[in-house]
Amino acid sequence: MNKKYDRNDLCWCGSGRKYKICHSSYDERVLTYKSKGCIVPDREIIKSKKQIDGIRDSGKINIAILDYVRDHIHIGMSTEEINNLVYDKTKELGGVPAPLGFEGYPKSVCTSINNEVCHGIPSEKVILKDGDIINVDVSTIVNGYFSDSSRMFCLGNVSDEKRQLVEVAKKSIEVGLSQIKAWNFLGDMGQEINDYVQANGYSVVKDIGGHGVGIEFHEEPFVSYVSKRGTEMLMVPGMVFTIEPMINMGKPDVFISKINGWTAYTKDGKDSAQWEVTVLVTESGYEILAY
Ligand code: MF3
Ligand code: CO
Repeated sequence: MNKKYDRNDLCWCGSGRKYKICHSSYDERVLTYKSKGCIVPDREIIKSKKQIDGIRDSGKINIAILDYVRDHIHIGMSTEEINNLVYDKTKELGGVPAPLGFEGYPKSVCTSINNEVCHGIPSEKVILKDGDIINVDVSTIVNGYFSDSSRMFCLGNVSDEKRQLVEVAKKSIEVGLSQIKAWNFLGDMGQEINDYVQANGYSVVKDIGGHGVGIEFHEEPFVSYVSKRGTEMLMVPGMVFTIEPMINMGKPDVFISKINGWTAYTKDGKDSAQWEVTVLVTESGYEILAY
C-alpha cells in the first residue's frame, strides 16, 4: 500500500518538489487505472531524474563496448576472445560487467550463435565460422546503475535466409518502440511485435522475456513480446525496461542446456536472432538509453 502524501509534502519521487505540483495528479491517474483492474507500476520502479542520468551514463558505456565488439569481431576468433574484449573495454571505461557472477554466471557477456536463443557462454572452444550469426549481449554497471543491450553480427557469407531473420529481429525493436509512450500498456508493444514477426513467418519466444533494469540487473516488470494489446503493466513516465524479443526461424519452443544450466536453444534446431535496447518511458514517447 502506498503512503498517502499531503499536498505540501515533498514528493516521493525524489525531485525535491512539493507533492501537489509533482506526482499528485500522476497518482490520481494511476489509481483510476488500478480501480479498473489494470496492472499498474509500484512507485519503487519509477526512476528519479538522478537515477535516469545514471542509467543513461551506464548506457553510453554499454554502447561503446558494443561498438568496440563490432569493430573487432571476426571469423576465426573464439567467443572467449569476445568475452576478453568486453571485460577489458568495460574496465577501461570505468564500468563493471553485470553478467560476471550474476546468479553464478561465469563470464562477462553472453554470446549466442545460430540456434542458441540467448545466454550462450563464451568459450575458447567456440570459434566463429563463415556464415554464423551471433548475438552479443552486453550489460554494464556504472556508478551502481545498470544498462543492458545486445546486437546481432553476421560473419562473412551469411545466407539470405539468416540475414532476413536478423533484419526482422532488428526491425521488431522499432515496431515495439512505436508503442512506447506513457499510458499505453506493455501488451500494446508485445502484440505489435508478435504480429509483425508472425506476418514475416517467424515466431517470438514466449518463455523468456525482457525486464525492468537500472537499479538492479533484472527488476519488475517481466516484459513479454507475445502479450495482448491493453494488457500487462501500464507504462508511466520514468519506467525503464528492455525490449529484447527473441525471434525464431521455426517454432517458438526453447530448452535450457542441462550441461551449463544457462544457454537456451531452439527445440527444433532452427536459427534464432535477438536485438535489445534499454528504453525509458516519457510522457510523449521514449528515450533509448542503450542499444
Ligand atoms: N542480458 C541478459 C538478459 O537480460 C543477461 C542474462 S543474465 C546473465 O537476459 F547472467 F546471463 F548475463
Ligand atoms: Co536483458
